[in-house]
Amino acid sequence: MRIVVGITGGIAAYKAPELVRLLKKAGHEVRCAATEHALEFVTRVTLETVSGAPLYSDLFASGRTEHISLKDWGEMLVVAPATANIIGKVASGIADDALSTLLLAFSGKPVIMAPAMNCEMWAHPAVQRNVELLKSWGIRMVGPEEGELACGVSGVGRMAEPEAIASAVCATTRSQRLAGQRWLVTAGPTYERIDSVRFIGNYSSGKMGFALAEALAKEGAEVELVTGPTYLSAETFHETSLRQHIHITSVESAREMYTAATEAFPQCNGAILSAAVADYRPSECADHKLKKNGSEGMHLELVQNPDILATLGGKKTAAQTLVGFALETDNEEANAQRKLEKKNLDYIVLNSLHDKGAGFGVDTNKVTIIGRDGSHKESPLLSKQEVAGLIINTVTS
Ligand code: PMT
Repeated sequence: MRIVVGITGGIAAYKAPELVRLLKKAGHEVRCAATEHALEFVTRVTLETVSGAPLYSDLFASGRTEHISLKDWGEMLVVAPATANIIGKVASGIADDALSTLLLAFSGKPVIMAPAMNCEMWAHPAVQRNVELLKSWGIRMVGPEEGELACGVSGVGRMAEPEAIASAVCATTRSQRLAGQRWLVTAGPTYERIDSVRFIGNYSSGKMGFALAEALAKEGAEVELVTGPTYLSAETFHETSLRQHIHITSVESAREMYTAATEAFPQCNGAILSAAVADYRPSECADHKLKKNGSEGMHLELVQNPDILATLGGKKTAAQTLVGFALETDNEEANAQRKLEKKNLDYIVLNSLHDKGAGFGVDTNKVTIIGRDGSHKESPLLSKQEVAGLIINTVTS
């Protein structure tokens, strides 16, 4: 990956060359951008030598527009150390030198900051407010740590060690294993309207589907996430830089999910359908709130919804991978196997409501991944993120 290391004027700037060295050792290409004050603590010669590239520090040097070319060149920007000053400038949209200008121009790509300052400065409400604002924009903070500070006092404000910053960079680096691929994921429940205020629904939260979408994006895929009603949103994704690779279409009913999924599928390398789709819907939806009609009971006529998974199974080409889920309560394996064959799937992921901590709503799941080739992979109870990683590794290997 091409990484720009930004250095601002704090004593911890002396650690920046070590960070550059570690990033290069991990296989990244690095260029440095420094503020004028940073060069009081670390020299141009040192930064140019360790990075192997000219230092960017003067906005007006020979009329160049490096903040534009470096922004295009860089895939990630790491500011270490990040002083209260640079954090405040970015929070306020101020661009008055080379690095702050680059930071404002560097939109849509991952930015990591390693704050370093005196502990009272760090605790100041203005700094804390600015840090929270930057985090809400997706900028990731590494540190600061607690320890002895250059000014002689102890407290929170020490820059994280270069090793910790380098490993945060590696964790954010997106794998390219599925680069160029597009996957469809369905998530959540569907709501089938009875009247203008009531519906038939289920307890699916969407957590399993959102975890699958994030796991695919982490491996380099573009993801079409079609989700039924859920409180989850793009903000839910743990790695903010992945949000741009997950395109969310929100739907309400099974028929809306059917339309979105069947439209997206032909452009996709594969699909994983984890949504809990209502098999039936009321044959009619009243356009007003149904009133009690005086009788003891009420009959609701239901008609069958289209089966999205079976439809995709019928359209699937040899180059596409289709994965279904099965939520079972009895004869689990036999029922899952039957669905695998009937719906022409490559894999089916079985989860059972008999397993404590698995299925609807919870943050964990326990699954068996059954392949068309007869393969069986069982997971213990894991977080839905871990289960998603296991499923993606199995169905894309
Ligand atoms: O959302 P969470 O709270 O995290 O919960 C996750 C989950 C329990 C919903 C998920 O792990 C799961 O099991 N999803 C499938 C639930 C389900 O409806 O299973 P099913 O056995 O009824 O359906 C089989 C498969 O056909 C599923 O892939 C389903 O998406 C698909 N289907 C079903 C009916 C239909 N009309 N169209 C479909 O595509």
